[in-house]
Amino acid sequence: MKLGRFNHIGVVTPSIPDSIVHWRDVMGATKIHDPFDLPAQGVKVCFVDTPADGPNNGTQIELIEPLGEDSPIHGFLAKNPLGGQHHVCFEVPDIHAAKAEFEAMGKRVLGEPRIGAHGTLIFFVHPKDMGGMLTEIMETPKDH
Ligand code: CO
Repeated sequence: MKLGRFNHIGVVTPSIPDSIVHWRDVMGATKIHDPFDLPAQGVKVCFVDTPADGPNNGTQIELIEPLGEDSPIHGFLAKNPLGGQHHVCFEVPDIHAAKAEFEAMGKRVLGEPRIGAHGTLIFFVHPKDMGGMLTEIMETPKDH
């Protein structure tokens, strides 16, 4: 497995607009992207940038709100009404190689690689195989 850049932390929220106020006014975020729907994943998403440091792009907070009745994150909000930390995301150079490597190590990859919020292929690895962290693996965007 070739560990790449830490891309983002996924944070579930009952309200992206309320979370935007928090990240802007409490945490001082100055670059907050427009929210958008990801209907295939049943979520609405909004990225908040942290500042870039040297040649690396800053990492991001991915705010996630349920979209539709059968959104997979309704259960998370039922257990955590305030929302909270949901997943971490690391980049890899080759998504298919990474999937094969995780599977060879006996890690449970959840579904086939699919297009994620950054427009590149992603998959998730089961938290019970990852020290309790739901882990998103994302192919590095070509423009990075
Ligand atoms: Co994510």
